[in-house]
Amino acid sequence: MDKTTMLLFSILFLFTFLTIALSKTICNQDDKDTLLKIKKSLNNPYHLASWDPQTDCCSWYCLECGDATVNHRITALTIFSGQISGQIPPEVGDLPYLQTLVFRKLSNLTGQIQPAIANLKYLRTLRLSWTNLTGPVPEFLSQLKNLQFLDLSFNDLSGSIPSSLSLLPNLLSLDLSRNKLTGPIPESFGSFKGQVPDLYLSHNQLSGSIPKSLGNLDFNRIDFSRNKLQGDASMFFGANKTTWSLDLSRNMFQFDLSKVETPKTLGILDLNHNGITRNIPVQWTETPLQFFNVSYNQLCGRIPNGGKLQTFDSYSYFHNKCLCGAPLDSCK
Ligand SMILES: *[C@@H]1O[C@H](CO)[C@@H](O)[C@H](O)[C@H]1NC(C)=O
Ligand SMILES: *[C@@H]1O[C@H](CO)[C@@H](O)[C@H](O)[C@H]1NC(C)=O
Ligand SMILES: *[C@@H]1O[C@H](CO)[C@@H](O)[C@H](O)[C@H]1NC(C)=O
Ligand SMILES: *[C@@H]1O[C@H](CO)[C@@H](O)[C@H](O)[C@H]1NC(C)=O
Repeated sequence: MDKTTMLLFSILFLFTFLTIALSKTICNQDDKDTLLKIKKSLNNPYHLASWDPQTDCCSWYCLECGDATVNHRITALTIFSGQISGQIPPEVGDLPYLQTLVFRKLSNLTGQIQPAIANLKYLRTLRLSWTNLTGPVPEFLSQLKNLQFLDLSFNDLSGSIPSSLSLLPNLLSLDLSRNKLTGPIPESFGSFKGQVPDLYLSHNQLSGSIPKSLGNLDFNRIDFSRNKLQGDASMFFGANKTTWSLDLSRNMFQFDLSKVETPKTLGILDLNHNGITRNIPVQWTETPLQFFNVSYNQLCGRIPNGGKLQTFDSYSYFHNKCLCGAPLDSCK
């Protein structure tokens, strides 16, 4: 090959390369403009350095573009563990195809939950967690009919739990744990419109009795630990339920344990630090327990022998009124 041919080939190669590179710019211009506003609104953090206006926004970090069926619109925005200060920018509401919105482990993210999130009608996952958000759990969340995972845990949210959350027809998991929520568990949580979601409400200041209506549902996972809940919690038990995990520890529940039947599926049961009375039923030896703690209650009588009940040590049973038998001291 002579030099001219080489040069021609090189130019042709470069041209082809550029054509391919340019045709790969698939980012939607409106989304790109919105993302650049979000970046500005967060004071151009280093975490978003890849958000360079010269490049295709579908190649930027913290984002996902959908496929051709949604014209490659932005479907996920995930900002995790960066040096980000400020509030959630209202422009997130201008990414109309968003299915996943995550702000997580950002201790300098403050302010209330951004109302513009109400515009995101395709949203399936909303996770604003380990941030420093304040204000209420907003009512508008119940308008997000596609929401499956709602995680607002580890924040400073206050006020009561909106009962309208039970209207979310696709909700699979609700995590409001580790906030400063007060008031009761809504009556409506006994009638979720769609699936029965997992409920994580631990480490708040929720009070009052659990509505009886919650007994109508077959929950898979419940964590109501470390609140100020009281009264009867026996509605979560029942031989016909298929519950896997039930944590009611560190509340003020008072009910007769001898009357409740455990679900045949129960693997995790934590009832420690309550005021639960009477004895542990013999039928509990048939439960496939992997974690069990009834310490610090008002239980009495013989610990039934068999099943998994003796695989736990005395710390699962201590500080009761008069429980006896292995792994505690033998009954007199
Ligand atoms: C949060 O803000 C403080 C004060 O401005 C700063 O010292 C700290 O590094 C920030 N932390 C993060 C994780 O951005
Ligand atoms: C929230 O901010 C306070 C100070 O305003 C700070 O002490 C605390 O560590 C922050 N929370 C988290 C989760 O970083
Ligand atoms: C449990 O299910 C069986 C069969 O579906 C039914 O006959 C029984 O009444 C149910 N028991 C309770 C306590 O709901
Ligand atoms: C059960 O709970 C008590 C009280 O919180 C605790 O001291 C004990 O270690 C727990 N047992 C297990 C096995 O976690």
